[in-house]
Amino acid sequence: MTASRAISEKLLEWYDRNARALPWRVPPGAGDIGSAADPYRVWLSEVMLQQTTTAHAAPYFSAFLERWPTVEALAAAPEADVMAAWAGLGYYSRARNLIACARAVAEMGGFPDDEAELRKLPGLGAYTAAAVAAIAFGKRAVVVDANVERVVARLFAIGEPLPGGKAPIRAAAEAITPHARAGDFAQGMMDLGATICTPRDPKCLLCPLTADCTGRATGDPARFPVKAARKIRPTRVGTAFWIERDGKVWLVRRPGKGMLGGMRALPDDGWSARADGSGDAPLPGSWRAGGVVRHGFTHFDIELGLAIYAGDKWRELKGEGEWWPLAVLEAAGLPTLFAKAARLALAS
Ligand code: ADE
Repeated sequence: MTASRAISEKLLEWYDRNARALPWRVPPGAGDIGSAADPYRVWLSEVMLQQTTTAHAAPYFSAFLERWPTVEALAAAPEADVMAAWAGLGYYSRARNLIACARAVAEMGGFPDDEAELRKLPGLGAYTAAAVAAIAFGKRAVVVDANVERVVARLFAIGEPLPGGKAPIRAAAEAITPHARAGDFAQGMMDLGATICTPRDPKCLLCPLTADCTGRATGDPARFPVKAARKIRPTRVGTAFWIERDGKVWLVRRPGKGMLGGMRALPDDGWSARADGSGDAPLPGSWRAGGVVRHGFTHFDIELGLAIYAGDKWRELKGEGEWWPLAVLEAAGLPTLFAKAARLALAS
C-alpha cells in the first residue's frame, strides 16, 4: 500500500464519520451507489461558495432552489430577478456568469460530465469545473480551494510562498487524490480544513492525518501555507445620494460592466470609476450630510458619504432611474454597500 493511498483512506474514513450536513450534499458514499448529487445543486453551491462561507451561502442556496428548482428554470428567469436574489453574496460577476451558464447548460440539455467540457462553461474556472466533475459525476478531479491548499501545504510542509506555492501544492494534491470517491475526498479535505486544520490553532490531536503530517512534525504547522507579504489596500472615497419622496426612494441601475455591474443602487458620484469622489449630485441645491458608510471590497475599502436631499426640485432629476417604495426596499436587491447606506438614511 502506498503512502498516498493511506492518506486518502484515512481521510475518507474520517469523512464518513464527520461529514458536515450541508444543504447541497448527499451523504458520504452515496455517489458510489448511484445516487450522486444533482449537478445543478452542486454547481450552484460551488459558485455561491467561492469567496463566501458555508453559513452565509446556505440560505441563498435554499432560496434559489425553491424559486428556480432546475437549471432550466434558472435559465428562463429574468436577469434582473437573479441579480436581485444574489444581492448580499457579493462578487456580482458571479451572478452574471451564473445566468449565462444556466442558459448554456439548458441549451445543451444538461451539464457535461467531463472536467474539460465543464471548464468551457461561463464562470467555471479550474476549481469549479473540478468540483462539479468530482462531486456530481464521481470523476477523478483534483479540487483545490483555500481549505485544501492549507491542508496540503501543511501535510507536506510546502514552504514556497503563495501564489508561487500553488503549483507544488496542486501537484501534491494530485498525488493523494484517489480514483474512487474523488468527490467525497474533495469534500472531506474541505471539511478537514474548515473544522480541524483551521487557519489558526489547528486541532492536530483530532486530525486523522496527524501521523502523516510533515508540517506537524516541524512543530509549527500553522505557518503553512506561507503567504507573500500583503499589499496595502487603498481606501476610495465617494458619495451616495439619498433622494426620498412620498415614501419612495430614487434608485438607479449600475452599468453592466464594472463594480456591482447590473445591480440596483443609490445614485453615486462615480467612486468606482474615478476613485476620487468628485462627481456631480443628480440634483442641484439642498443636501445634508447623513453620515459615512464603510465597506471592504477585495482590492480596496470604501468610505461612502451619504448625502440626503432636502429640496423639492424632483423634476430636475438627471438620468434614468425609478421611484422605489420604501416599504419593499428589501426586494430591490441592493448590494451590501448600498443596503448599509439605505439603513443609515432610514435611521437618520
Ligand atoms: N466549500 C466549497 N465547496 C464546498 C463543499 N462542497 N463542501 C464544503 N465546503 C465547501
